[in-house]
Amino acid sequence: MASADLRRPFGSGLSLAAQTVRVGSLSCMSTAQEREMLSAFNRYGFAVLRSTERAGSRQDLLGLRWRFGTPAPHPRADDDGIVPITPAEPVDGFPGSTRSEHLLHTDGAFRDRPEALITLQCVRPAARGGLSVLASAQAARQHLARHFPGRWQALTEPDALTITRTGRTSTQPLFRHRGGVCGLKFRMPDGMSRVVPRPDVRDQFAELCRFFAAPANRLAFKLAPGDVLIADNSAVVHGRTTIPAGEPRMLRRLNFDATGPTCARMVFGFPAAPAAR
Ligand SMILES: [Fe+2]
Repeated sequence: MASADLRRPFGSGLSLAAQTVRVGSLSCMSTAQEREMLSAFNRYGFAVLRSTERAGSRQDLLGLRWRFGTPAPHPRADDDGIVPITPAEPVDGFPGSTRSEHLLHTDGAFRDRPEALITLQCVRPAARGGLSVLASAQAARQHLARHFPGRWQALTEPDALTITRTGRTSTQPLFRHRGGVCGLKFRMPDGMSRVVPRPDVRDQFAELCRFFAAPANRLAFKLAPGDVLIADNSAVVHGRTTIPAGEPRMLRRLNFDATGPTCARMVFGFPAAPAAR
């Protein structure tokens, strides 16, 4: 695994163009393209792959399996592990299937072992609204360290936060802290999930939610057809803005356990000690 020291926080001013890598197809990148992808991912925790061949096809997305490992389970996944993300068929308990804003979160927060890597392939973007939104867990960690000096430890304790959805519950640290590397597991109360911080960390959790809601801390952008967003699920939170009524939008989600060969050269998490922004 590459060193977490490479990881940097980001906010709304980050250039998306610098995080976008043009490739032929996802399953056939040149060495230079792969290096560019790893450099972008390792620095900020995500990259956008813009493929020109077979762009937007299921096969192109599935071509990532040999790199990133086994697809993560999901109750709505098909046999390949792909979950359709569209407002066409709202499903109870899943904000991604609605038109409402999907608040920033890490995937699999209801499980004790969330997936390590998320990928989202854009099949059809919305003409209006439906922007993808990312924010940096490392920037949030630095913000909390400044606002609540000396109280960081409580967020790393095993019962800091309990998250429940559709019968699944997980009680874990908000910030996992292992071997000098930190990772976030996070969900905001969104009307579909029950999110309960331990009483002594309620104020820190509320500040974390405010941080992720502030425009200066959010990078919002529109994926183009065929684009695939890859992101470190422990270092980057993701969400989506509201989709106006009648506006079609279609993405495919395929998350991974990060056991594939490319992952040995990828950074997961961020340094536990605050770094300069
Ligand atoms: Fe998600």
